[in-house]
Amino acid sequence: MARRALSILGLALGLAACGSEDANTGADALSPNYTQHIAPILQRACVPCHTSDGLRAGGVELDAYESAKATAVKDACTAVTPDLITAYADVLKPVPRTDAPDRATCADWAPFSMPPAALDKLTPFEQVLLLRWIETGAPQ
Ligand code: HEC
Repeated sequence: MARRALSILGLALGLAACGSEDANTGADALSPNYTQHIAPILQRACVPCHTSDGLRAGGVELDAYESAKATAVKDACTAVTPDLITAYADVLKPVPRTDAPDRATCADWAPFSMPPAALDKLTPFEQVLLLRWIETGAPQ
């Protein structure tokens, strides 16, 4: 499982290196941080509906580091494709919930359902960044 996750990470990094003019993008992606890598993704794809001072869709706030970190696993469960969720099952540990603390990883949320409908979903590379960010402790 870990091996598969690593090869997917390698693939995504390879894709990013090909399509990017910034030679550092691939190396950066190994240790993504909130300010440089995650905030811009959430800003584009999520913040329009998940703000602390306006729309708090589903009670989720994604416009500040603390709140983004607090909901990171849940966010990944909704914004990532089923394949990557499976590959990163060991990272996306079950979310403790009062009603069912031992529920299977991501079972409460539909994969790739956020952002909803035809809005721009996260690219595979953005998904890997989000997962890798969680895996490395969601640093600021
Ligand atoms: C167009 C508006 C919109 C955008 C953009 C959007 N969401 Fe949502 N989100 C909603 C709405 C509405 C709900 C509540 C209804 C639902 O669960 O479908 C929701 C619910 C959620 C929930 C579930 C909360 C729960 O506990 O059940 C999560 C997690 C979430 N969003 C994360 C994200 C992430 C991560 C992104 C960006 C990748 C994002 N959303 C983008 C509208 C949006």
